[in-house]
Amino acid sequence: MSDNIKVALRLRRPLGLESVDSVIARVGTEEKGNTIDIRHSKKVEVKSFQFDHCSTYSEDVGRDQKEIYEQLAREYLLHALDGYNTCIFAYGQTGSGKSHTMSGSAEYPGIIPRLCQELFAVRELYQASDGQTSTHFRIRCSYVEIYKETVQDLLGKGKCRVREKADRTTYVEGLQDFEVFTEQELSHYFNLGNMRRVIGATQVNEQSSRSHAIFSIDIEQQETSPLGHTSKRKSSIKLIDLAGSERVQASKTTGEHLKEGANINRSLSALGRVISMLSKVKKPISIPYRDSVLTWVLKESLGGNSKTCMIACVSPCDYEETMSTIRYATLARNVRNSAMLNSHEISNGKEQVQAMRSQLEELQKTLSRVENQREVEDQMEKIKLTNQFLEARIDEEQKLAANYYHEWVEMSAQRDGLMQLLGGIVRSTQDVQYSQLRTLLKQLKDHSWEVGQKIELYHSEATECIKRSQE
Ligand SMILES: Nc1ncnc2c1ncn2[C@@H]1O[C@H](COP(=O)(O)OP(=O)(O)O)[C@@H](O)[C@H]1O
Ligand SMILES: [Mg+2]
Repeated sequence: MSDNIKVALRLRRPLGLESVDSVIARVGTEEKGNTIDIRHSKKVEVKSFQFDHCSTYSEDVGRDQKEIYEQLAREYLLHALDGYNTCIFAYGQTGSGKSHTMSGSAEYPGIIPRLCQELFAVRELYQASDGQTSTHFRIRCSYVEIYKETVQDLLGKGKCRVREKADRTTYVEGLQDFEVFTEQELSHYFNLGNMRRVIGATQVNEQSSRSHAIFSIDIEQQETSPLGHTSKRKSSIKLIDLAGSERVQASKTTGEHLKEGANINRSLSALGRVISMLSKVKKPISIPYRDSVLTWVLKESLGGNSKTCMIACVSPCDYEETMSTIRYATLARNVRNSAMLNSHEISNGKEQVQAMRSQLEELQKTLSRVENQREVEDQMEKIKLTNQFLEARIDEEQKLAANYYHEWVEMSAQRDGLMQLLGGIVRSTQDVQYSQLRTLLKQLKDHSWEVGQKIELYHSEATECIKRSQE
């Protein structure tokens, strides 16, 4: 995908001795939001310049830091997650807010710590998504500093050389990179590199503003779909805090400083030349990347396979330096890059069909297992119901049997009572009138016959019932 380098301008708030009256730059309001107006202190004329994005300052430093990340930098993390190489570099004179923009402070974190934090937040999201597609992340980082045309590995052993690969891309030979698993680990390496820069800065006066710092995060994502389809995306994010761009002739430096300044000048003017050539409608065949270590290392980020953003930082009170930065930034707007999606499928067509086939078989097996399981479950349910039914019947019949037995015992007792009564009557009726006695006896006989019949019936039913429940 061919697209231009995005150029954003950030206007720093007036600091220290800079009075509000001496401010010469102003970012356009709402409808003219992406313009900056520059006024020369001795002239009435106001020059207006347009960029892809312009940001000014407010009373809330924290909110400004958040906004520049969200409105500008976040996009480059998202492009990287899509598989594009990305690069954000801060350009501007010393004190214009490059480090504030890229690194910031613990209180007001800049683009790099925010991007590190969001990268891991996104990784969490991807890993905890729907469980359908799993994404495995490998994140590595490295940190170099270019000082006096030498590449210094800030996390490794020291000086390194820049080499060209067969595909004509460049790399830093022997550079140590580290795999990181948490945001804390990534921040640790960033802070470690910064500390080494600071140590250098105290040994060699103000090295940190005189060296270029490149923090790289390499992301490798392996995605596996439920059908076993695997794809890989690779991308690299380069986050760069360039050395101060103040012109050497303006600062009256001598000796070591002059050499230092000349080196910075060399790499920044080489960067300017490269940008200028790349911005031409008809690009020259040979771009002078080799003219400085900086442009050589950043070959891919400038006019190559990368989505690149330049943040031009300007101080609000310095007309000459601000104009110089704006000229540089205006040129950069015309540079066209050709970012490519660095992703490829790991499995080829045949493997994929095979993977789908075995996936289908697996599914069918699971399905038949489920069917069998269902049959067994049905049977079990039936058996359970039959058992319940039988238990209820046995229970009921046992209750019936117990009732019959109870009644039988009661009837037997009644019969015994009747027999005793009969015996008593026979014994005590010698002198009673026969006709009356006969009637009485007849009634008694009938009654006892009835009772006897009932007893017989109950008895045989009870026997039958007990026999059934024992079967
Ligand atoms: N937008 C801003 N808001 C508040 N303070 C800022 C802003 N930009 C820069 N500063 C402050 O200005 C000073 C110089 O900024 P710095 O980022 O170190 O400049 P550079 O890296 O370009 O030399 C620092 O103290 C920084 O905190
Ligand atoms: Mg700085």
